[in-house]
Amino acid sequence: MIPLETGHRDVITEMVKMYGPKSYLEVGVMQGKSVEAAVRYKSLNRLLLCDQDPHCQTYVNKILLEQQFLGEVEWLIGKSQTLLPTVGYKFDFVHIDGDHNEESEYQDLVNGWKLCKSVMIVHDISFSEVQTAVEKFLDGIDRTKVGVQRFTGDQETLVITR
Ligand SMILES: C[S@@+](CC[C@H](N)C(=O)[O-])C[C@H]1O[C@@H](n2cnc3c(N)ncnc32)[C@H](O)[C@@H]1O
Repeated sequence: MIPLETGHRDVITEMVKMYGPKSYLEVGVMQGKSVEAAVRYKSLNRLLLCDQDPHCQTYVNKILLEQQFLGEVEWLIGKSQTLLPTVGYKFDFVHIDGDHNEESEYQDLVNGWKLCKSVMIVHDISFSEVQTAVEKFLDGIDRTKVGVQRFTGDQETLVITR
């Protein structure tokens, strides 16, 4: 049982331990701190990382080297709202943490869910625009077929499982 007040990156590590995903998609990578939390447990062998800022690649390459990550890494550099719909395969674990504007967040949730096989997590749901987008997204899916859990640490994280 993961304590409800667990912070975002610890939620990621715990979910990786629990579900043992092989593939991971992250939208909004920044300096790769969440990527580090995701690869630490060594279950992943395929990453697709999306950010509009190409500088993320330098930070993440360093982290992956330190973590001795030997899997496949692909990048989508640009706006996730345009790029995610071009992705043709699915991921065990999807992490949404990019543009927190309501409409962009909603598009990332819808597009990310289409690419998600097992677990999707959403960061910063304490922000009002993210919260509104999440509510709209949850209203549009069959809630009887998914698990939804909210963790209150570090601006709050939502975990949706199918
Ligand atoms: C909150 S930070 C991500 C933090 C990261 N997930 C972590 O836990 O360390 C948001 C990131 O989203 C990126 N971003 C913002 N809007 C975006 C968009 N429309 N498409 C792709 N990336 C975007 C920013 O460049 C930034 O790196």
